[in-house]
Amino acid sequence: MATDRPCGPNILITGTPGTGKSTLAEELAQRASLNYINIGDLAKEGNLYEGFDPQYNCPIIDEDRVLDELEDQMGQGGNVIDYHGCEFFPERWFDIVFVLRTDNPILYTRLESRGYNGKKLEDNIQCEIFQTILEEARDSYKTEIVHELASNTPDDMEDNLDKILSWIEQWKNTH
Ligand SMILES: Nc1ncnc2c1ncn2[C@@H]1O[C@H](COP(=O)(O)OP(=O)(O)OP(=O)(O)O)[C@@H](O)[C@H]1O
Ligand SMILES: [Mg+2]
Repeated sequence: MATDRPCGPNILITGTPGTGKSTLAEELAQRASLNYINIGDLAKEGNLYEGFDPQYNCPIIDEDRVLDELEDQMGQGGNVIDYHGCEFFPERWFDIVFVLRTDNPILYTRLESRGYNGKKLEDNIQCEIFQTILEEARDSYKTEIVHELASNTPDDMEDNLDKILSWIEQWKNTH
């Protein structure tokens, strides 16, 4: 079913932490003149938390409040959402979903240089090995709108931007 989105398509950029979501999504939003929304930052700014996870030493996002906060804006369209999960969003929100994938040695180095170590580092690497986010995306959205993108090198990022920008042009021509 085609949805009416006056401000353009809604795009989800997801993937394991460190795969390059924010780097890609920010650049994409700028080049395509779409709104960039980083769910982690949104939760932080609005204090949309419902507790604290002692194991990972981080606050737990209040998903219902995040959804309430975004509902109107998502209805208008024209948003690039950046988050390392995808199953709590309503399926109807997104026109296309991109899952970034990074080869393990590269991801390991990126996360290590961010200061991740021990269980947090291992769990994120496992998440990528088991393609947890890709499966979550395939379970949550129509498989034909879910696309994997390699995110290892700056060239990959340029290719990904080109692909997504041309998809946006096509979307605009048909809506
Ligand atoms: N295509 C790429 N090629 C090389 N390096 C990249 C690429 N994309 C991102 N990076 C680098 O990898 C690191 C992680 O990128 P970024 O912060 O965008 O990841 P993220 O998926 O948003 O992580 P998180 O989920 O923790 O927010 C950064 O240092 C970034 O510069
Ligand atoms: Mg990020």
